[in-house]
Amino acid sequence: MHSNALQDKSVPSSPAPAEIPFLAQRVERYYRERAVNPVTGGHILKGRTPAEGDVLLTSNDYLSIACHPEIVEAQRRSLHDEGHGIPRSSVFVFGDSPLRSLEGEIAEASQAEDAIVTQSGWCANTGLLQSIASPETPVYIDMFAHMSLWEGVKSAGAPARPFRHNSVESLRKLIAKHGPGVVVVDSLYSTNGDVCPLREVIEAGREAGCVIVVDEAHSLGVYGGRGEGMVAELGLADQVHFRTASLSKAYAARGGLILCSARHAEYLRYQSLPAIFSSGLLPHEIAGLSATVRVISRERFRRDKVLRNAGALRARLRALGYEIGEDATQIIALVAGAEHLTIQLRDALEARGVFGSVFCDPATPRNRSLVRFTLNADLTAEDLERIAQVCAEVRSEVDIDQWPLPRAQRPQRMAA
Ligand SMILES: Cc1ncc(COP(=O)(O)O)c(C=O)c1O
Repeated sequence: MHSNALQDKSVPSSPAPAEIPFLAQRVERYYRERAVNPVTGGHILKGRTPAEGDVLLTSNDYLSIACHPEIVEAQRRSLHDEGHGIPRSSVFVFGDSPLRSLEGEIAEASQAEDAIVTQSGWCANTGLLQSIASPETPVYIDMFAHMSLWEGVKSAGAPARPFRHNSVESLRKLIAKHGPGVVVVDSLYSTNGDVCPLREVIEAGREAGCVIVVDEAHSLGVYGGRGEGMVAELGLADQVHFRTASLSKAYAARGGLILCSARHAEYLRYQSLPAIFSSGLLPHEIAGLSATVRVISRERFRRDKVLRNAGALRARLRALGYEIGEDATQIIALVAGAEHLTIQLRDALEARGVFGSVFCDPATPRNRSLVRFTLNADLTAEDLERIAQVCAEVRSEVDIDQWPLPRAQRPQRMAA
């Protein structure tokens, strides 16, 4: 009866409840500042819809495995055999189970003692920080750390002590002032592709007796011989208490991850609020992820290819005068700065069939909005050539000389 009513257009929908002033004000602000941009009249996050043949640099499927036949077949078989299984919170899963096997497989592939697979990277980060920090624990967090980490600090009621992006000096000063706590960084920053100086950050934290948390959402799967991520690649796995990740990047699925000691894993399974109060992954997602661990460990050529693609495009963009940072990662940010400049850049690229992702406040500081290119293993030499050509074409139209520079390069431009 309910679904018939929905289909029957002659049944009127209920009128919306009367507006309440405090909510009306917040919503009005969104419409005024975001939905209709006063300069362009458009929404900064809503560009064109890509057409056939356009180049998409918007996906986090870095290794191009979203349609991998082995992974799809594992999911198909699971769905066929057990449907959606028993939907429930993972707190009720113990003993031998596909979830525990998957956790063992990911831990082994990532050089960790144990692992917890969560519903998302957001749940991993919020659940972890809420379980390890408290109002008495200072949390030293890089200013560019992912929002889910900030949200975890907030939900712990812990005092956030943000340090300047990638500045070990700033981190050390804060630790000296506030004492031991939790140090929180991303290994590879999702908006601008910067790499964290992991060795130095970890050393600063360790010397002061801090717990170390590294979000590896964008490095797990892509870095390391078997895709174990940057921390393990650098031989630092035994110095980081918690490595977290989203499994919707190189793993191209839906889920999150915490890599840690077996003792901490047991604690988190029964402490993290998302682990207790939100339902776990479905059987076909777990089966698909198990296959994904095998594919990622085995198919090293995908890692090599995405990083080769990144190197080639970065070299072309640098030669064109784009300031894209020093690192060699698969995330390339064109930081236009003010939002109207980012919209202009997006429109110029999209008009020529190249699609990146727009990032703006609150994902970036207010005047450092950007178009992000995420590269993948399937991009061909022709695709890279086309992207470079388009970037060459739009270069003067979008006037890249007025874009903001990374802090380290500002004096050079002024001198020039
Ligand atoms: C660095 C980082 N951490 C955590 C997350 C959250 O992951 P998920 O999308 O699985 O919730 C993301 C995704 O945007 C991310 O980029």
